[in-house]
Amino acid sequence: MVPTNGLRAFCRRNTGVIARLMLILLALPGVAFAQKGAGDVVYEPTPQAAVEEMLRMANVSKDDFVIDLGSGDGRIVLTAAKEFGARGLGVDLDHYLIQQSNEAAKREGIADRVKFVEEDLFKTDLSKATVLTLYLLPWMNQKLRPKILELKPGTRVVAHDYDLNEWKPDEKKKIPVPGKKLGYPGQSRLCLWIVPASIDGEWIQSNNQPGTPAWDFEFKQRFQVFDGAVKLSEHTFRMVETNLQAARLSFAFGKDASNHFDGTVEGDRISGTLKTGSGNDVTTAPLILTLKKEEQSVTPASPHS
Ligand SMILES: C[S@@+](CC[C@H](N)C(=O)[O-])C[C@H]1O[C@@H](n2cnc3c(N)ncnc32)[C@H](O)[C@@H]1O
Repeated sequence: MVPTNGLRAFCRRNTGVIARLMLILLALPGVAFAQKGAGDVVYEPTPQAAVEEMLRMANVSKDDFVIDLGSGDGRIVLTAAKEFGARGLGVDLDHYLIQQSNEAAKREGIADRVKFVEEDLFKTDLSKATVLTLYLLPWMNQKLRPKILELKPGTRVVAHDYDLNEWKPDEKKKIPVPGKKLGYPGQSRLCLWIVPASIDGEWIQSNNQPGTPAWDFEFKQRFQVFDGAVKLSEHTFRMVETNLQAARLSFAFGKDASNHFDGTVEGDRISGTLKTGSGNDVTTAPLILTLKKEEQSVTPASPHS
């Protein structure tokens, strides 16, 4: 044992040695436990079993670019690259965690595919993301939601423990995590969303035969759920069997839902096939819809806010 006074004197004499020792300690693997994180939420790593499940839920592959907002020690992006072949980006405000993550990427030989940068996650450019991962507080998820909804249709978003409020997940799962204390003790709650195309508004058929009236389509969208109506001259039919997944859209309408449309949304254009009839008596015709101009400029993002 060193008496307190003796310890103080020892420290005064050896400040340089002590500073070097502290640096060595911080550089040791595992010392991240001492990390608090920086910014709007403390650092708490997603348990590795949950990381892997999140990436499986998002169906991550070598074609994906994974962005983890508030990347901590980088485990989600590092695992996406090492185990699933993806590329990716992690952002965090904690200088040490970013440094540690970039070093881990070099050590693992994947620094050409992943990168970690020190920046505010609310300012990150998400346009390259095909998969986005979040382990943040509910208010942070909520604040990010409008930006997430502007991502390419089909982008997968996976969140650990906290959801996106009224935007219901496309899939959710609970996995047991013995020893987990924060959030939901003993378990991780995982949610997956697939960013839907934006269809809210009025559309008009643009491939009608010359001289024949065009059909009108009105979609009322709330995230990946919608209802709507089809109008032709004085007739209005309610859409049923509606489905929107990423850019793929389908619905039925008319007596006995005998008209069935299946198509793809590409910005201001929806193109697909309308099948009419049933059994052996089915006719098929191409159908192209164009967003009416005034809708385009008034409320492009309103169904999502
Ligand atoms: C709960 S940890 C999640 C770490 C990692 N994503 C994981 O799941 O293992 C949240 C991280 O967000 C970081 N953070 C908090 N606010 C931030 C902000 N405004 N911008 C960037 N990073 C932030 C913290 O430093 C912390 O490392």
